[in-house]
Amino acid sequence: MNSWLKPVEPAWCEVLEQALGRAVPLEALAVMVARQSQRYLGEDIALAPADGLAARTLFWFPRDVLKVARAVGELAWAGALPDRPLRVLDLGAGVGATSLGALRALPPAVKVAAVTAVDSDPAALAILRRLADGARTANLLAATTPAVRTLVRDLTQPGWGDDLGLHDLVLAGLTAVEFTRAHGDEVARGAAIAVFLREALRRVADDGALVVIEPGSRAESRALHVARSILIADGATVFAPCLHAAECPMLRTTRDWCHEDLADVALPTWLQGVAKTAGLRWEGLTWSYLVLRRDGRTLRGAMPAETPMRMVSQPSVSKGKTEAWWCGPITGARGDLRVVELDRVARRTTGARLRDIARGALIALEEEGIAEAEDGGKALRLDPTHWRPVWP
Ligand SMILES: C[S@@+](CC[C@H](N)C(=O)[O-])C[C@H]1O[C@@H](n2cnc3c(N)ncnc32)[C@H](O)[C@@H]1O
Repeated sequence: MNSWLKPVEPAWCEVLEQALGRAVPLEALAVMVARQSQRYLGEDIALAPADGLAARTLFWFPRDVLKVARAVGELAWAGALPDRPLRVLDLGAGVGATSLGALRALPPAVKVAAVTAVDSDPAALAILRRLADGARTANLLAATTPAVRTLVRDLTQPGWGDDLGLHDLVLAGLTAVEFTRAHGDEVARGAAIAVFLREALRRVADDGALVVIEPGSRAESRALHVARSILIADGATVFAPCLHAAECPMLRTTRDWCHEDLADVALPTWLQGVAKTAGLRWEGLTWSYLVLRRDGRTLRGAMPAETPMRMVSQPSVSKGKTEAWWCGPITGARGDLRVVELDRVARRTTGARLRDIARGALIALEEEGIAEAEDGGKALRLDPTHWRPVWP
């Protein structure tokens, strides 16, 4: 179902331990992970720096390394990556889940010219350098992957990016959350995220992209989409996930938030026990993301001429029908659009069925489908001949 998502190869386990410089018994790792998890939630829990690094390297790296794959996959599918060896810049790189995740998600034909990783934590950056070298040696990354250049820098200080030059793929994975969490409400937090992303956009080449990953939780995702509105007003283009530039419809209520949630993606088997012992989920992968550009190119522009929509919920199957929420230029009463597929109608087709479409999928909806399938303005009743999944 997630053809764009390459599962974490078992060989990473050894590469991660070697980069950390020690093996950690699983029971001890579970304690470190539980404590680091509480710290991520803003709690003041004691954790030795070396144990925090162990948790981040051995547990969070293999969990978070997949989160950038949809954004990179969509850029590649749309032909929206520059046609040259890419200069990659990772902001708040930590031990490298986002930058190395992006490298492993790139199509093999795309080469990488340089990887620059910025973080305030030199110990994490040292692990990232060793991880990239180890992964290349173990054939987990392309043999041509360059050594990572690291820079210790505080991303909250004005002018942090002035001397960094331009890059084709600028990444900020689970970074803004770290220094904007303290802001009281989502409006203030979104404004603080926008300040950071505005500076990050200045480092993006004319034909490059800025990929931002944030946690999939309600507060973080909503703050990211507040930042999105501010940056659109500044003149930035949203490439993805949105297929429109209007305000995020999910900000209209307090209950919703636009995020990714892949229920069928589990942690690598060697970490499932650690997650269970630490009281964390071992199944399901959630995150939110935003891809910004300066050149006006959009994912929507790469889609077929029909109306582009994105599935923004899981399909909900009940007796006789399947329902889902789609987001795009066609809006329903709530801003996004409830779609309904009746089983008796869907059975007539050999094409895709709504119940088989994963959250996040891109869909082309024909004009006739919109005109003929209106259902009292409440939901769009789908006719299988008038819509189709486009990607993945
Ligand atoms: C949750 S980690 C995410 C690391 C990595 N990007 C990933 O995707 O796994 C957040 C990183 O942001 C870094 N960070 C937090 N505040 C920072 C700041 N003011 N300047 C630079 N880096 C910062 C932390 O040191 C940490 O490595």
